[in-house]
Amino acid sequence: MIYFHEHTDSTNRIAKEMAEEGAPAGTVVVAASQSAGRGQYGRSFNSPLGGLYFSVVVEPDLPLERVPLVTLAAGLACRNVLHANFRVNPAIKWPNDLFLGRKKVAGILCEHLSRHQQSSKGARVVIGVGLNVNSRIEQFDPEVQALVTTLFEHLGREVDIHQLLNDLLQAIASGVERLAVDCLALLEEWQQYDLLRNNSVTYKNQNSNIEGIGQGITPDGLYRITDHTGQKHTIVGGQLRLSTC
Ligand code: BTN
Repeated sequence: MIYFHEHTDSTNRIAKEMAEEGAPAGTVVVAASQSAGRGQYGRSFNSPLGGLYFSVVVEPDLPLERVPLVTLAAGLACRNVLHANFRVNPAIKWPNDLFLGRKKVAGILCEHLSRHQQSSKGARVVIGVGLNVNSRIEQFDPEVQALVTTLFEHLGREVDIHQLLNDLLQAIASGVERLAVDCLALLEEWQQYDLLRNNSVTYKNQNSNIEGIGQGITPDGLYRITDHTGQKHTIVGGQLRLSTC
């Protein structure tokens, strides 16, 4: 079932609440714009009219320790739809932002339902996707305008948001199913589009600030970097970005 809102605060908030109240896997919440789109690390996600903002409830058939990989599967699925539909070539910035050139075109935020709300089948996750589609750069907050791009800016034309939504939903569902059957191949495919690999990156968490080189993901979907002294680090939380951005 797809629930459409002209305007809301956050489709992830609504989808999460609905899932906690028993909405089944496959429930989708879409909004034409959001006032408080949720991003990673507690940041907000600018969501002006013209973009595509949706959240889908999924119930991956995976052991709990593999559920974090859902976020990588969703990012790869969205990348592949943009490539197939528009011949653009987005790179994926771990864990799952999509970039065209050095600018962000999409962000994905996966939120897990609290354990006591999990279904008998296993974990349930809300996958939230925000994609800059037909919006114009001037519609974004001034402080992010230099950092974002839109499909419109790349293609020079508007695209059909409803068709795109259908394609993305199908691809995300297949991507999540694929995790259960050929996870290693999916992770290998993901590595082909890794924006950070062999690039200078900066990693920041509460305790440290590391400059290094991106080395790709581990089989658990964590990110590896090597710092300038040659020491290897595996990134669990905190923020990782290209040093030049
Ligand atoms: C990020 O860039 O940090 C992730 C952004 C995810 C934004 C999408 S928009 C639809 C869904 N609803 C939300 O509140 N957030 C996600």
